[in-house]
Amino acid sequence: MKVIAFNASPRKQGNTRIVIEHTLKQLNDMGFETGIIHLFDYTIQPCQGCNECREGEHCPINDDLMNLYEIMKRADGIIMASPVYFGSATPPLKALIDRTGYIARNNGYVFKGKAGAPIAVTARDGGNFTIAQIAFWYYYNGLIMPGSTSWNVVYGEEIGDVLQDTRGLEAMTEFGINLGNLLTKLADK
Ligand SMILES: Cc1cc2nc3c(=O)[nH]c(=O)nc-3n(C[C@H](O)[C@H](O)[C@H](O)COP(=O)(O)O)c2cc1C
Repeated sequence: MKVIAFNASPRKQGNTRIVIEHTLKQLNDMGFETGIIHLFDYTIQPCQGCNECREGEHCPINDDLMNLYEIMKRADGIIMASPVYFGSATPPLKALIDRTGYIARNNGYVFKGKAGAPIAVTARDGGNFTIAQIAFWYYYNGLIMPGSTSWNVVYGEEIGDVLQDTRGLEAMTEFGINLGNLLTKLADK
C-alpha cells in the first residue's frame, strides 16, 4: 500500500519536509511504501471555475495537475502538509485542493474511502485555520481521517526549529501509526 505526502513549502528541505519525513517514517516502519511530492516543482494554476470537469474526469488547463491527480488516484493514503502563510495553506496546495476536489466530486467521488489528513507547520499562529482549510477537502471528498493526540500542527520558524517541538512530533508519530493501522483495517474489510 502506498501513502503520498504533498509538501506545499517552497523551502524543499524546510520544517514541513522534516515533519513529513517524521510522519512517513512511522509508515515505512509498518511496511508502507511512501513518497513525497514537492508541489513547488510543479505548475498548478488556479481553478478557473469553467465546470468542464462536470463533463468528464479531466481539467482543460494544460499544466501538471492531471499527473498529480492520477498519482492521488493510485495512492491509498494522501497527506497534505503546508507551512502556514498568513493563516492559510500556500497557493499551490490551494490550487491542488480546488481542482482535484472538483474533478473527483464531479465524477463519482473518486477519492472516497481513501485515508489521510492535513498537517500544518507554523511559527506561532494560524495552524488550526490551515488544518481546517485543508480538512474541508477531506470531508467533501469522502476520505477517512485518523486522529492523533492533538491537531496535526507542529511549531517552528527557522529551518530545524520543529525538532524542538517534542509534543508536536509526538502527535505526528501517533498520526502516522494511526494512519497505518487505519489503512491496514480498510484493506482487510
Ligand atoms: C509569507 C509567509 C507568511 C507566514 N505567515 C505565518 C503566519 O501567519 N503565522 C505564523 O505563525 N507563521 C507564519 N510564517 C512562518 C512559517 O509558517 C514558518 O517559518 C514555517 O516553519 C515555514 O515552514 P517551511 O520551513 O516548511 O517553509 C510565514 C512565513 C512566510 C514566508
